[in-house]
Amino acid sequence: MVTIAVCVGSSCHLKGAYEIIHQCEEIISQLGLRDQVELKGTFCLGKCTQEGVTIIIDDEIMTGITPENFRQIFESSVLAKVPED
Ligand code: FES
Repeated sequence: MVTIAVCVGSSCHLKGAYEIIHQCEEIISQLGLRDQVELKGTFCLGKCTQEGVTIIIDDEIMTGITPENFRQIFESSVLAKVPED
């Protein structure tokens, strides 16, 4: 199980956190990954001064996430960890 936590603090909210959560839900459902990927929100991660939204994939904090680059990040950082059937 890969866990994705999207920061929903006020700064990340303004930078599109909810759009990223929405996109993430869509990708998880399109690819049938509900049993492999857990999506949740998290409070401020203390990275508000960085560009973009902050997320955590498993234990790795990633900044600079935008609705434009999220899919690519998902593919490179999440799909790589999902075991193939
Ligand atoms: S609000 Fe997201 S890091 Fe602070």
